Parts: sequence; structure tokens; C-alpha cells
Amino acid sequence: MVKIAPSILSADFANLERDIKKSSTADYIHIDVMDGVFVPNITIGVPVIKSIRKCTGMFLDVHLMINKPARYVEAFAKAGADLLTIHLEADHPTRIAEALRVMDEYGMKKAVALRPITKAKAILPYIKDLDMVLVMTVEPGFGGQSFLESQLETIRRVRNIINDYNPACELEVDGGITVQTAPLAVEAGANVLVAGSAIYGADDIPAAIAALRG
Ligand code: DX5
Ligand code: ZN
Repeated sequence: MVKIAPSILSADFANLERDIKKSSTADYIHIDVMDGVFVPNITIGVPVIKSIRKCTGMFLDVHLMINKPARYVEAFAKAGADLLTIHLEADHPTRIAEALRVMDEYGMKKAVALRPITKAKAILPYIKDLDMVLVMTVEPGFGGQSFLESQLETIRRVRNIINDYNPACELEVDGGITVQTAPLAVEAGANVLVAGSAIYGADDIPAAIAALRG
């Protein structure tokens, strides 16, 4: 079954606990951390995740859009993140490997993300050791953008690599997911759908989550 990960970037930050509780039928809570350098936007950081951890037992899927993420793995682990996603473009390969090693040390789940410009084969050095690969279906930085259909090919290629080397690894897509685009991403091989505006922009959050599951 397809998993749904509501992105709280589109939730009401003054009522985060309320919006997270309304999302309890989802599988993960997706939290977008942006540093204003790797992407042009700034969002939330470690203290907010610490507070979220206290108000929900849901699985926290933390998407780091920050440069040199290895510096912060320990802090996010201690804040209560269950899974960390780091971008392959955010540091040199040795430092990406080091970040994944520290995640292991803390017993976290590990994921790498690809910007639209990054080729599927970039995951090859890491794939055997990953719990999830995130294919961005928009340029990272902002919610509410349109799904890039050109990324369907990357999703298919990542799916093939996963099937060949680590079939238990999840394939998450993020950006522009709606009831129209979700089936395209699933058909291409995604099994976890992140959605921000399609969920928190809806009047009925549980109904929006159910509609995305298809
Ligand atoms: C964008 C973030 C997404 C964002 C998705 O860089 O990584 O998680 O919240 O928003 P929607 O679903 O509105 O495209
Ligand atoms: Zn995200």
C-alpha cells in the first residue's frame, strides 16, 4: 500500500500540534528543514522538531535541505527524528557517507535525496545501506509548486536500481503531489508520497490523505 507523508511546511505553524493530530491517518510526518543556503528559503530547525517529538508518536521523516548535513545529524537524532534525508548535492561523497554512518550510530533510518538535476545513478554508492531514496519532483525550497513530469523517468530509474540492489528500500517523491499526479508517481515506482498543499490546503485533512492513497 502507498504511504502518505504530509509535509507540515503547508500546515499552520501557530497550530502545528492541531494539524499533526488531524494527520494521524497518515504514515509519516514530513518535516522540511531549510537553511537559506542550500535552498533560498528558511524554515524550521532542531528546537521545533524537539517540540513536535513531544506531541506525537508518529514517525518523523525529516528532510534536510541544508549544506554539509553531517554537522547536524547528531542534533536531529537527539531531537527525535526517526529518519533523516540528506541531499547528495549538499556535500562531498565522503561527507555524505560520514553523515549516513552517524545516522547508523544513532539507530536512525537513512535516506538520500536527489534534486531534479541529479541522475538516478548517483545513489549507487549508497543504495545497499539506505532505507529510503527521495526523488524531488520540484526544485526544493517551496511548497505549492507544479509537479515536474520530467522526473517520472528518474523515479523509474531509481525504482530499477532499488529492485536490483535493495528491494526493501522505500522510494519517496516530494513536490507537486496531488490526486492527479500521485497515480503517475506510483505507476513510475514511488511508494511514499509527500504532500503539503494538497493535504493542509484541504478543508478535510483525513479525506485528503485518503484521496492521495488512491
Ligand atoms: C519542497 C519541500 C516539500 C514541500 C512540498 O522543497 O521539500 O516537502 O512541502 O509541498 P507541495 O506538496 O505543496 O508541493
Ligand atoms: Zn520535503
